[in-house]
Amino acid sequence: MTFCENNLDFLDKAIESALKRIDRNIDKFKAGFPAPASVDNRYPIVDNINWTNSFWTGMLWLAYEYNQNEKYRELAEKHINSFKERLEKRIVVDHHDLGFLYTLSCVSAYKITNNDGAKKVALEAAEYLMKRYHEKAEIIQAWGDLNNPEQRGRMIIDCNMNLPLLYWASSITGDNKYYEAARNHVKKALRYIVREDYSTYHTYHFDVDSGIPLKGTTHQGYSDESCWARGQAWGIYGFTLSYTYTKDKELLEATKKIADYYLERLPEDKICYWDLIFTEGDQERDSSAAAIAVCGLLELSKQLSDSDEDKIRYKKAAHKILQSLYCNYSNKDEEEVDGLLLHGVYNKNGNTGVDECCIWGDYYYFEALMRMKMNWEMYW
Ligand code: GLY
Repeated sequence: MTFCENNLDFLDKAIESALKRIDRNIDKFKAGFPAPASVDNRYPIVDNINWTNSFWTGMLWLAYEYNQNEKYRELAEKHINSFKERLEKRIVVDHHDLGFLYTLSCVSAYKITNNDGAKKVALEAAEYLMKRYHEKAEIIQAWGDLNNPEQRGRMIIDCNMNLPLLYWASSITGDNKYYEAARNHVKKALRYIVREDYSTYHTYHFDVDSGIPLKGTTHQGYSDESCWARGQAWGIYGFTLSYTYTKDKELLEATKKIADYYLERLPEDKICYWDLIFTEGDQERDSSAAAIAVCGLLELSKQLSDSDEDKIRYKKAAHKILQSLYCNYSNKDEEEVDGLLLHGVYNKNGNTGVDECCIWGDYYYFEALMRMKMNWEMYW
C-alpha cells in the first residue's frame, strides 16, 4: 500500500489528470458513449442504450462547472437530444435506472443552465419511472417487465440512487405523488434490504399483490447472505440522498451504521473488495464502489450537525479513500487506459468488466474530486 501524499495536495494533480483523460475521451467517443465497463482498459463505444450512458454526460457537466469551458457544455447539450429521443422512442427505458439516466443528463442541465427542454424531458422520465411503482408493496420494481414472474416485485439497493429524480419531480411540479413513492420505497428498503447488522441485500422480493415481503437475494454479490460492496456503497450514498429530501432522522441514523459496516471491512489500502465478505486475499477490488462510497460519506458528513462527532470521522474516512484511489488506482496519463479509475468490477458473477474501468466509477471519482475542490451543488 502506498499513500503518495500526506494531505490534500494530490487534488489538483488528480483533477488535471482527470480532465486530460476526459478531453482524450471526447475525441475518442465523439457522438457515442462509453460502454458500462472497459475491455482491456479500453471503453468500447456504444449507442445510448445502457443504464450507464449518463455517467459520461454527468462528467461533462462536472468539467463544465469546474472551468466553464464551452466544449463540455456543447457536447453535454447534444446528449440531451439523445436522451430525449431515447425516452420518446422507448429505447431500453423499462427499468428503474431512469433515475441515473435523467438526473445526470437532464436534471443537471436544468440546474446548471436553466434548460427548460431538459427539465421537461426529466419530468417525463420521472412520470415513466412511476409506472414501476407497486402501490401495495410500496416499492419500485427494478428490472424487467412488470409481469415478468422472476422480476415482479423485486427491488434492489441501487434504486436508492434513482429516487432523487422523483423527489426533484415533486419539487418542480408541486405534485407530491413522486415524493410519496420515493419515500415509501426508501422506507421499505431500510426495513427489508438493510439487515440487522446494517449490511445490505442486493435485492429483495415482494408479493406485490398482497404487499408481503418474501426474501433477500443477490444478483451481483458473492452470495445471497454476503454483502455486495457496491450495493453497500449505493446504500451509503442513496439513503443519505433520501435524507436530504425527507429530513427523516431514521434514515440518517441508519446510514451511519451502513457506513460503519462498510468502513470496518476495508483492507489496508482502504479500497473495498468487490464483496465485503472478503477483507484480504487475491479477490478483485472494486474501485467504483470506493468512489461511490467517498461521495456518500462526504454527503453524509455534510448532513450531520457540527456537534456530531461522526461528522469529522466520515469526512476523514472519505479523504483517505479518495487519496488511495488517486495514488493506487487512478490512471495517471497512461495512453492505453481510457478510464479515470482502474480496477473496478462490474459483474463478477457474469464475468463482465472484472478488474476493468467502469464508467460510473469514473463519474463518482470525478464527482468526489469536485466535491473536494469546490462548493458543488448536487445534481442528485
Ligand atoms: N446499478 C448496477 C450496478 O451497480 O452494477
